[in-house]
Amino acid sequence: MANVELIIDGERHEFPVVEGTEKEKAIDISKLRAKTGYVTLDPGYKNTGATMSAITFLNGEEGILRYRGYSIEELADRADFLEVAYLVIFGELPNEAQYSEFKNDIKVHTLVHEEIKNILDGFPSNAHPMGVLSALLSSLTAFYPNSLDPNRSAHEVHLSIIRLLAKMPTLAAWSYKNEKGQPVNYPDNGLDYCGNFLKMMFAVPTEPYTVNPVVESALNKLLILHAEHEQNCSTSTVRIVGSSQSSLYSSISAGVSALWGPLHGGANQAVIEMLESIRRDGGDTEKYLAKAKDKEDPFRLMGFGHRVYKNFDPRARIIKKAADDVLENLGVDDPILEIAKKLEEAALNDPYFVERKLYPNVDFYSGIIYRAIGIPTQMFTVMFALGRLPGWIAQWKEMRENNEPIGRPRQIYTGHNLRSFVERGDR
Ligand code: ACO
Repeated sequence: MANVELIIDGERHEFPVVEGTEKEKAIDISKLRAKTGYVTLDPGYKNTGATMSAITFLNGEEGILRYRGYSIEELADRADFLEVAYLVIFGELPNEAQYSEFKNDIKVHTLVHEEIKNILDGFPSNAHPMGVLSALLSSLTAFYPNSLDPNRSAHEVHLSIIRLLAKMPTLAAWSYKNEKGQPVNYPDNGLDYCGNFLKMMFAVPTEPYTVNPVVESALNKLLILHAEHEQNCSTSTVRIVGSSQSSLYSSISAGVSALWGPLHGGANQAVIEMLESIRRDGGDTEKYLAKAKDKEDPFRLMGFGHRVYKNFDPRARIIKKAADDVLENLGVDDPILEIAKKLEEAALNDPYFVERKLYPNVDFYSGIIYRAIGIPTQMFTVMFALGRLPGWIAQWKEMRENNEPIGRPRQIYTGHNLRSFVERGDR
């Protein structure tokens, strides 16, 4: 592969070009500062490849998403979430024996320490479940001190991976029970991953609970669609926190915090709140499209646009179809689905959105399914975190296995030059 030449002040410098397995090209500037004294400036890392990764291939122009070489369409259609988790984390689909061992290992660890209930009790009951989840995940470091040093042993890291996958549904459901002011439910290991989560969320001591297979299968699909998405904001956070050799639990807790914001995973909650407020305001989608286009108005069409998808988000296509199926299967008639479709159609035909390549993203329709299966709005981003966990783990593991250096960007300083201290009375 040819090198790239950079001419600075008349002096020529060569930099290698690296190419990925899908022919993506990058200029390797890792020696740029050493060779030239210059750094690059790229706010939001819009042009910066932070790593070389073998986990996910994403082509935003063509709307392609693959985990470890398998298309998202096929995985969403045919796989189990835990099978996908195994694939993403360990690199290959598990055979029967590997899958059954993996599932059993997870079942052994679904309980959380009883003292976690005391921590949970310390939160006010209206606490947002994302804050509670992030805190509870971080608290796992206190219960498993051997996990603090990720260099301790490969066995200890594996145990942390299994514990996280096993305990995340329990912690997520408990963060909801806290908000609801209801007693928590313990895991039911007789159920599959999604069924167990649903039971911990919705069972109440006064009534029997049976898992609805339509709901379980919709949840399985949603979790698969969210399982991994290469170097997004929360994943980059997990990698950068982990790069300081912080523990897996603390890195994942940081990922949950990064996911929470409305420009990232928090968009699924924001979309439903937006659609509801449009409905309350009479359903006038044109008015809200105009607001989104008005640069003086901070309003954005939530669930629209994506940093990397500039044609369509393949996950959104699958979810839109799934939303129709789930609502029909459950006999739910949700007026905001109509508003969402009207808004999408109008935006896709509007030059503002067309020119800027703004399309519905994964969050535009996911909230409608979550609502239909009874998940409360405040929990939507927690559901995203539950799905994204395998991706965060895989990226953290890969970063460690590649011996990547600590993440530490540079900056261009724009403040004052050196000045002398002035005594308070003289200022
Ligand atoms: N509504 C209206 N205008 C928008 C929207 C939107 N949702 N998204 C982008 N634009 C406009 C911007 O104002 C900008 O216009 P300009 O060129 O005239 O200044 C142009 O489109 C480019 O947008 P940027 O913000 O520069 O694009 P960026 O890649 O930085 O942001 C983001 C991507 C954050 C997803 C953005 O599209 C957005 O805020 N969308 C709404 C929030 C959302 O749905 N987030 C979820 C993303 S998916 C996920 O994280 C799981």
